[in-house]
Amino acid sequence: MQAPIFSLLDVERTYELRGRGWLNRTPRKLKALDGVRLELQRGDTLALVGESGSGKSTLIRLMLGLEPASDGRVLYGQRDLAQLDAEERKRFAREVAFIYQNARGSMNPRMRIADILAEPIRLHRLCEESAIADRVVALIERVGLPAGLLQRFPGELSGGQIRRVAIARALAAEPRVILADESVAGLDVSVQAQVLNLLRELCRESGITLVFITHDLGVASYLCDRIAVLYLGRIVEQGPTEAILNTPRHPYTRALLQAFPRFDMPLKASLSGEIPSPVDLPKGCRFAGRCPQAQAACRETDPVLTAHDAGRQVACLFPVASV
Ligand SMILES: Nc1ncnc2c1ncn2[C@@H]1O[C@H](COP(=O)(O)OP(=O)(O)OP(=O)(O)O)[C@@H](O)[C@H]1O
Ligand SMILES: [Mg+2]
Repeated sequence: MQAPIFSLLDVERTYELRGRGWLNRTPRKLKALDGVRLELQRGDTLALVGESGSGKSTLIRLMLGLEPASDGRVLYGQRDLAQLDAEERKRFAREVAFIYQNARGSMNPRMRIADILAEPIRLHRLCEESAIADRVVALIERVGLPAGLLQRFPGELSGGQIRRVAIARALAAEPRVILADESVAGLDVSVQAQVLNLLRELCRESGITLVFITHDLGVASYLCDRIAVLYLGRIVEQGPTEAILNTPRHPYTRALLQAFPRFDMPLKASLSGEIPSPVDLPKGCRFAGRCPQAQAACRETDPVLTAHDAGRQVACLFPVASV
């Protein structure tokens, strides 16, 4: 078997919060990611789902090398991101593209779309200067937009058009991996479906590896072959989309599915109890306080992600049995 394209080995990310007030002088630490293990094979399409604050964007920032892991390692191929030399970093920047949560805000409002798309081509010297214009036209057509839009500015495009431009820009450097943060949230359903269709086709055609953050299990199941569920900085269950949706093993995943959202609704958990603070995680399982089937052992032992049935991993001492 080929080596994974990305491996996260017990990754932690801790933020030091500046002390508030004069009473508490010891800096408080917030664990945004806590023991994350994940492997991505080439061509995998993975949805990262989880409530707000579960660490989804932090995970993507670490995979992009924008922030270091506080502990553990992030590998691209066989190489630790923290140890890439200048040449490897350049290659990484070309091969791993990012689609921002806020597509419009990520573009310079004073640049024409043509220049926005030409920038990565120039930066990575992918072709002769004279061939750039043709390449830019091919890119905009690939995402289903007319070449006439190339002379416009970002402020003159609709929400759906700007997301497509963001996808075209991500494709400009011919990446192997695309990481996307909530790239269709806030679009109306028909535009959302168009953008999702486009992404799905592109991944299938080009064998791109995709990690797609979403609050929406409908989006996750439409776009991705695998789902990883994050809860308070830890992957609590991951595996093939069908398995996760049809027979969830982690009580948290099951609770999310009981509130299965409409295609356009954000994820809501049908759970009582408060999410614990990531600054002060409880002993034992971090989900125990909200779990309908928690037992005494759950308040003592922190379960690690372990292999379960076919391709699935679960972090639970008492996984839900199949019905
Ligand atoms: N720079 C930072 N400094 C301190 N805390 C941070 C920082 N960035 C993120 N956090 C905290 O880390 C945790 C995870 O945040 P993150 O942005 O990864 O969540 P998310 O799952 O992407 O949420 P959302 O769905 O709202 O985008 C949160 O508790 C957040 O407050
Ligand atoms: Mg986020």
